[in-house]
Amino acid sequence: MSRTVLDLVVRNALVSTAADTFACDIGIRGGVVTMLGRDLPGAATEIDARGRHVTPGGVDGHCHLDQPMPPPVRMADGFDSGTRSAACGGTTTVIPFAAQEKGQSLRAAVDDYHRRAGSKAHVDYAFHLIVTDPSPHVLRDELPALIAEGYTSFKIYMTYDDLKLDDRQILDVLDVARRYRAMPMIHAENSECIAWLADRLIGAGNVAPRYHAVSRPMLVEREATHRAITLSELVDVPILIVHVSGREAVEQIRWARSRGLRILAETCPQYLFLTSADLGIDDDYRGAKCVCSPPPRDEANQKIIWDGLSDGLFTVFSSDHAPFSFDDPAGKMPGGREVAFPHIPNGIPGLETRLPLLFSEGVLAGRISINRFVELTSTAPARTYGLHPRKGTIAIGSDADLVVWDEREVVVSNELLHHAVDYTPYEGRRLRAWPALTLLRGEVVWDGRQFSPGSGGRFLRCGTPSILPASEAR
Ligand code: URP
Ligand code: ZN
Ligand code: ZN
Repeated sequence: MSRTVLDLVVRNALVSTAADTFACDIGIRGGVVTMLGRDLPGAATEIDARGRHVTPGGVDGHCHLDQPMPPPVRMADGFDSGTRSAACGGTTTVIPFAAQEKGQSLRAAVDDYHRRAGSKAHVDYAFHLIVTDPSPHVLRDELPALIAEGYTSFKIYMTYDDLKLDDRQILDVLDVARRYRAMPMIHAENSECIAWLADRLIGAGNVAPRYHAVSRPMLVEREATHRAITLSELVDVPILIVHVSGREAVEQIRWARSRGLRILAETCPQYLFLTSADLGIDDDYRGAKCVCSPPPRDEANQKIIWDGLSDGLFTVFSSDHAPFSFDDPAGKMPGGREVAFPHIPNGIPGLETRLPLLFSEGVLAGRISINRFVELTSTAPARTYGLHPRKGTIAIGSDADLVVWDEREVVVSNELLHHAVDYTPYEGRRLRAWPALTLLRGEVVWDGRQFSPGSGGRFLRCGTPSILPASEAR
C-alpha cells in the first residue's frame, strides 16, 4: 500500500540542535517535523540540503516592534516589516513587548498590542509584558491572569523616567513572578547616576551622541546588576538580566552564580561588534545610529562577552532590535533636528543580522560550537520563555522552523535587509554565511533571494518557563 505521508522532505541535511550534530533527512507534515532519518519516503516537495548546515529557526527573545513611543518618536518597524526582516535573517519566532504606560491597565496594553500585530506578522510571535505601573490591581488581578493566559515573562526597567520602577515596586513584581512562575527580565542601569552625569555633561555643553556612552559608564550597569541580583535573592525568584554589555556586569553575574543564585543573562550583537567609538570620535551626529543602552564598550569588553558566550555564562543571545531611522523626524532626529544625547531615541536595528553575525563570527570563526549557537539563539530562548519544545529545536513533533545555511561571503549592506530602518550599524561588515532558506512551519519564507509571505505568523501563548536551561548548570 502506498500513501503520501510527508508534505516536504529536506534531504541530506547536516542537522544541528543544541545537543548534537547528525546527518539525516527531515520529513515534514502539517507544518511539523514528523520524521528524522535516512532515505525517507518521497514527498510532494523536496529540498536538497547536501553539504549545508541546518539549524532550528531562530527565536529572538528580545525585540521591539511598533512599541508606543512619546510623540514625535515612532518605531520604524511594526509587525509587517519587522517580522519580514526576521524571516530573511533566519528568525522564525519573535517576542516583542506589550508595554504598559504609567496609569494604564496592563490588560489594555496587551489588547492594544494585539491590535498593532493584527494579522501582519510573517513569523510566529509571543508577547513579553513591560510592567511600569504595578498598582494593587495589576499585582493582584491583571498580572496573575495574564500569566495564566500565556504571557509568562515581563520586563522591568531600573532606568528611563517613563518606564522605571523603584526597588520596592520591583520586589512586589518579582514576588508575583515567584508565586505564579513567570520569568522577569531586568534592564539594569542606575537611573540616578545616569541623570546626574547627563546633567553635568549637558551643563558643560557636551551634547553630542558620543556623550551618551560617557553618561552610562559600566559602573552604573554594575551597581544595578548587583541590586537586581540582591532583589532576586531576597524574593527567591530567578531573573534574567538583559543586554549585558561588558566586564563589570559579567563579574556580578559570575559572583551570583558562584553563590548558587539563579541569574540568567542575555547579551546582544552590539556588544560583540560595536564599541563606544561607533557613537562618534568627534561630535558627528551620525553616532546617534549606535546610541543604545547600555552603550557598546571597548574591544577588551567585546572579548569578555565572547568568553561568556562560549563558557556558558550567557543564557540567550537576542537582537534587542529597537528600530528608529536616522534621517527621520520620528527617529534619531526627533522633530527633524539634531538633539542633545539624552533625547536621542535609544536602540539599534538587528533582527535580520543577529543570526548571520553569530554564525559567521562565532561558529565559522571557531569561537563557539554550532551546538552552542543553536542553544543561544533558539533552544534557550524557547525554554526560558516557555515555548520549548514546540519551538527551538529540530525534533519529532516540533514546528518545522528551519534555517539552511549558505557559507559564502556576504558584505552587509542596508540594501540587502528587509527592515524599514534607513541604516544598519553593520554596514560594510564581511560575513561568511547567510541563510539560504528559512522555513516557517514547513513553508519557505526566505529562499536566499526573496521573501515569500506564506500563510503568516501565529500568536503563541507561552507556557511556564523552563527556568534552568542546560547552559546555566555549568
Ligand atoms: O537602547 C535600547 N536597548 N533600546 C531598547 C529598549 C531597551 O531598553 O531594551
Ligand atoms: Zn532594556
Ligand atoms: Zn530592548
